[in-house]
Amino acid sequence: MGYSHYSVMKNEILSFINTKENKTLIDATLGMGGHTLSISEASSGKFNFLCFDQDKESIEIAKEKLSPFKENIKYFHTNFKNLKNYIDDKVDYILADLGISTYQLSNKKRGFSFTSDERLDMRMDKEQILDAHYIINNYNLNNLSNILRDFGEERNHYKIASYICKERTKKKINTCKELSDLIDRCSSKKSKINSSTKTFMALRIEVNNELDSLKEFLKNSLSLLKPNGRLMVISFHSLEDRIVKNFMKFSEKNCICPSTQMFCSCNKKSELKILTKKPILPCESEISENPSSRSAKLRVGEAI
Ligand SMILES: C[S@@+](CC[C@H](N)C(=O)[O-])C[C@H]1O[C@@H](n2cnc3c(N)ncnc32)[C@H](O)[C@@H]1O
Repeated sequence: MGYSHYSVMKNEILSFINTKENKTLIDATLGMGGHTLSISEASSGKFNFLCFDQDKESIEIAKEKLSPFKENIKYFHTNFKNLKNYIDDKVDYILADLGISTYQLSNKKRGFSFTSDERLDMRMDKEQILDAHYIINNYNLNNLSNILRDFGEERNHYKIASYICKERTKKKINTCKELSDLIDRCSSKKSKINSSTKTFMALRIEVNNELDSLKEFLKNSLSLLKPNGRLMVISFHSLEDRIVKNFMKFSEKNCICPSTQMFCSCNKKSELKILTKKPILPCESEISENPSSRSAKLRVGEAI
């Protein structure tokens, strides 16, 4: 069927996995199945997989690609924050490759791309009710402005949000293209592309509640790993990476009492050993082959 997604840092992921033994891996973000496929091949089919995605279409496409390994794979259409409800036994590895796939971005009907003439959508899970169209046409000025500031790190958040609110009183903002043209009109020449990118990213994060889901997922993931099991997370922007980094740092700590306190009274135990003191970045050749991988960061921790 030819749907493609370039899976980032496949070799780096493999370097944290023992593919010689029979192990179980949760692929929390199946996408087009690229990582699961590469691990299946590297382990010559010895691995079992529990694969999650909140995008039903992606699961169907991945299923086809992974059909040679179908005996070893179970699929779950749900948000990865719900992982715990679907897993009975602890696993050896959990992988999350965050964000959206090339398939979702380039499929204009999904309304993620700012060149799309389709309705603003951006739902990864099409069964969800909230979409970008509702947010753009109904959220109040302060809400919109805060979303652009907090999730898009957009400096002109108030100006853009005000312009959106003004324009939508004349006519509903229906398509991605309409929104990006409108952002162009109220941005300086220099910041046009940047502002559209930031606004679209902010909207996507809000529609899919991405940061809260990530926090919930990370919290649950630790209780699902066997001792020495590994959590591997690839993030694509600083908001995600900060959450992953802080979570791993906190989980590694053996005590969270104030430094002025003489004796520990918190009972906090370290639950994770960080294996990547600094995040791993894609190598030069990967970046030149797939420029959009340049913002990827991989962090890995091992359960205690
Ligand atoms: C970057 S792609 C993963 C690509 C995949 N690793 C591959 O090699 O083909 C991210 C995928 O995660 C899914 N996703 C993002 N957030 C999710 C969440 N909270 N729960 C479940 N799936 C999620 C998206 O729908 C998308 O298909």
